[in-house]
Amino acid sequence: MSFDRSIKIAPSILSADFANFGAECEAIEAQGADWVHVDVMDGHFVPNITFGPATCAAIRPHIKGVMDVHLMIAPVDPYIEAFAKAGADVITAHVEAGPHIHRTLQAIRGAGAKAGVALNPGTPASSIEHLLDMVDLVCVMTVNPGFGGQKFIHSQVDKVRQLRTMIGDRAIHIEIDGGVDPTTAPLVAAAGADVLVAGSAVFRGGSVSDPAPYGENIRAIRAAAQA
Ligand code: DX5
Ligand code: ZN
Repeated sequence: MSFDRSIKIAPSILSADFANFGAECEAIEAQGADWVHVDVMDGHFVPNITFGPATCAAIRPHIKGVMDVHLMIAPVDPYIEAFAKAGADVITAHVEAGPHIHRTLQAIRGAGAKAGVALNPGTPASSIEHLLDMVDLVCVMTVNPGFGGQKFIHSQVDKVRQLRTMIGDRAIHIEIDGGVDPTTAPLVAAAGADVLVAGSAVFRGGSVSDPAPYGENIRAIRAAAQA
């Protein structure tokens, strides 16, 4: 994975057909997705449950590009090795998920993955100021994590701008997660984000048997972000 700050669209399979993940991953990549975003939820850190490392390992062969695993679980550390073995390229943990985020980020890199840190809407940019040499990606949650299809929280755009300044020339991606669509993508792109996660705005209107709308949706978000 070489570093690249151009806009990348990362569809979240949280909005895919759960009975058909392999084919859905292949369809979104064929339709222009740059990364595949995989939302892991435990019903404890967030009020929803999705799936774990076995599902990630099962879908890995169906993804040619970057598998971006977003862990909304607590604790994180006991499961890092399993997600790395499942083939995650990026493993993102929440700064709010435990008392030792520094140790968690070390463990992610130690397991051979790129390390991401996610911030809930109420968590300030300054909370990771002393971790910047430990991370490859900062994920700004623009909804409260747990569900797809929620409304974008506009107050987070200023946080993106602050992070962009803090990061400077470092090779760190800024990822936006939640409520991204063609109306919100330009706001976060202008503030300095380069990885745009989108679930409902990518999958709406399409299916594995009719994937063309996925491509139209991805192109609309990318064009809006680049405008
Ligand atoms: C929310 C997840 C998101 C979510 C985004 O907890 O982390 O990745 O799927 O979905 P949309 O794009 O529908 O807001
Ligand atoms: Zn996510």
